[in-house]
Amino acid sequence: MSTVPNITLNDGATIPQLGFGVFQIPPPETAQAVSTALEVGYRHIDTAEMYGNEHGVGEAVRASGLAREKVYITSKLNNGFHRPDDARSAFESTLSALGSEYVDLFLIHWPLPSRYDGDFVSTWKTLEEFKAQGRARSIGVSNFQVEHLQRLAQEAEVTPAVNQIELHPYLRNGDVHVYDQEHGIATEAWSPIAQGGVLDDPVITEIAQRVGRTAAQVVLRWHMQLGTIVFPKSTTPSRIRENFDLFDFELTGEDVERISGLDRADDGRTGPDPDKFDYIPG
Ligand SMILES: NC(=O)c1ccc[n+]([C@@H]2O[C@H](COP(=O)([O-])OP(=O)(O)OC[C@H]3O[C@@H](n4cnc5c(N)ncnc54)[C@H](OP(=O)(O)O)[C@@H]3O)[C@@H](O)[C@H]2O)c1
Repeated sequence: MSTVPNITLNDGATIPQLGFGVFQIPPPETAQAVSTALEVGYRHIDTAEMYGNEHGVGEAVRASGLAREKVYITSKLNNGFHRPDDARSAFESTLSALGSEYVDLFLIHWPLPSRYDGDFVSTWKTLEEFKAQGRARSIGVSNFQVEHLQRLAQEAEVTPAVNQIELHPYLRNGDVHVYDQEHGIATEAWSPIAQGGVLDDPVITEIAQRVGRTAAQVVLRWHMQLGTIVFPKSTTPSRIRENFDLFDFELTGEDVERISGLDRADDGRTGPDPDKFDYIPG
């Protein structure tokens, strides 16, 4: 039985705190990886139109025999589709690729402050339509900085249910995380193990040795205790299992603090800076 805690979002929906991410899993391999994750017990899958593998996610969920409502699925609006009409057709394509009448959570993937005349508010209002129609059970944002969230608070009706940001021991992203907490927005941490980049850190390996777990489990357990929602990616079945096995040990408050103390601020980023990122896939 899964022991993954559920987090209640500001719209009343619940989301499993631990899921499975499929960024950089090639489309032909996605269904197999997601099937393994579902067999292990994951019930939350994080994909995006940009990853090109929504179809494989839908295929694995159908093949699992699990009822659709037993699996929480997130997808994201790609950067080329921020204009409202483009967002509407992109959302249709996402539902069609997943083979589902709804997604549990739909996000604006990047704020793109230097594109579309800096107007992510119209895009957000289009996501509000998807929520009102019941086709996105919850809506949220990704890579939004404090000033982007403040602008939505002033100009939009619905507060994002989540903000999915890069967050791991080398990028604590404290300002955004605190803003989220103070405004009822759940924080999802992408690249939760910094794509493996934090696993050789001496503080983490020392704790791992002491508690008899792997470095990845220690870092993912740190996320569980911080309250962030995570979805580590792996195509290695043993790691898919390892990353799910987090609920029979606990870190001390001191260990949590030591890991948080590894923060390198902006130097710790593995991915792009959301204030500068303006990539539109060709
Ligand atoms: N919103 C956004 O802009 C955004 C950006 C990036 C990611 N994301 C989401 O966040 C998810 C997770 O982030 P991520 O994929 O960038 O990175 P991640 O989950 O931090 O790390 C994945 C990498 O770590 C390796 N790994 C996984 N488990 C391991 C373990 N137990 N021991 C050692 N190595 C391990 C994987 O290798 P193998 O696969 O070879 O096992 C892979 O190379 C993504 O899949 C995606 O859903 C969102």
